[in-house]
Amino acid sequence: MKRTVLVTGGCGFIGSNFIHLVLAARPDWQVINLDRLTYAGNLESLRDVADHPAYCFVRGDICDRQLVEDLFAGHGIDTVVHFAAESHVDRSITGPGEFIRTNITGTFTLLEAARQYWAGNSEQCRFLHVSTDEVYGSLGTTGFFTEQTPYDPRSPYSASKAASDHLARAYFHTYGLPVLITNCSNNYGPYQFPEKLIPLVLNNCLQGRPLPVYGDGGNVRDWLYVRDHCEAIVRVVEKGRCGESYNIGGHNEKKNLEVVELLCDMVDAKVGRLPSGEPRRTLITFVADRPGHDRRYAIDAAKIDRELGWTPRYSFEQGMDATVDWYLANRDWMESVMDGSYRQYYEKMYGEIVGGEA
Ligand code: NAD
Ligand code: TYD
Repeated sequence: MKRTVLVTGGCGFIGSNFIHLVLAARPDWQVINLDRLTYAGNLESLRDVADHPAYCFVRGDICDRQLVEDLFAGHGIDTVVHFAAESHVDRSITGPGEFIRTNITGTFTLLEAARQYWAGNSEQCRFLHVSTDEVYGSLGTTGFFTEQTPYDPRSPYSASKAASDHLARAYFHTYGLPVLITNCSNNYGPYQFPEKLIPLVLNNCLQGRPLPVYGDGGNVRDWLYVRDHCEAIVRVVEKGRCGESYNIGGHNEKKNLEVVELLCDMVDAKVGRLPSGEPRRTLITFVADRPGHDRRYAIDAAKIDRELGWTPRYSFEQGMDATVDWYLANRDWMESVMDGSYRQYYEKMYGEIVGGEA
């Protein structure tokens, strides 16, 4: 089916992977990418599709009501896939204000514009709000998050995402807006900004710098290859039931330390040990824990499998192999995103602890 899709935050990690996938796999879809190009947004990630006839980029803020209304009317938007967000827990701890503005007010602005533009004619329309498993809080050593798990967000990031999920759901119940919500576990893959664990560790591995592991390294995340997440989102847009939430996960729980050790071993195997002859595991440095650090996330993704027939296609080994290869082949991308503000951020977060002089 033909769709005219407003993708918000398409220059970020998951959004850019999603746009690549859609332009290749859905020739009937037109994509309008609205992105403010914050530190996390990078036009380089979409350079190869910049002139694609089914794609257009608009630089702007999802909180700008007039701009958003103009985009709906000007392009005849019938589908929204809403990625735009402030997405990094550590930054939400040092500066929560931007998270409230973009994640809550921005989502509200988009919901209002959709409600107004689709009024009385929304049967074929879809508003997919992309969210996170972090809204459910932290698990002990057992159990899984299901779609029925009560929300219990514990960082300003997850609290702002929880608020936006509640708004999106309220617009379904109150106004009949065709809203779908996905709550996904931790993603990894190409084009991820090097403030998140996997690209940060990869980058430091390549530069021979300390690898900061928070606390005891025993926190558990359920890792999903980004391509699998993007395919799940397409499936939910096309087949999901409006008003429903779908958990998306990788059936792939790992302790942080295991992930970091695996990355060290993979880089050693692919490019050789450090110039000193030492293995990269010697770079692992335990640092002070993140305040309020959620201990474990784990997703029960049975509903999306049962109802929509989606399960991840990539094993962790395949996904990590593809990811490490991508970062090795795209060092110029990494360089281009690590501008002055990244270096300042790194210095502030890690400078004193691991002697980083990024
Ligand atoms: P990201 O930080 O890499 O990208 C966010 C993008 O949004 C950037 O391109 C940025 O420029 C843009 N943006 C920020 N504020 C904006 C604004 N006010 N107006 C317009 N654009 C704005 O994030 P990501 O990792 O790609 O995550 C995308 C979505 O998926 C987020 O909603 C996040 O909560 C959710 N999510 C992420 C993960 C993960 O592991 N990364 C897991 C589950 C859910
Ligand atoms: P992150 O990639 O920031 O994702 P999230 O906080 O959304 O799960 O972090 C993943 C895990 O890795 C999390 O438990 C925090 C930990 N971590 C480190 O140990 N060191 C680091 O330098 C970073 C960025 C994260």
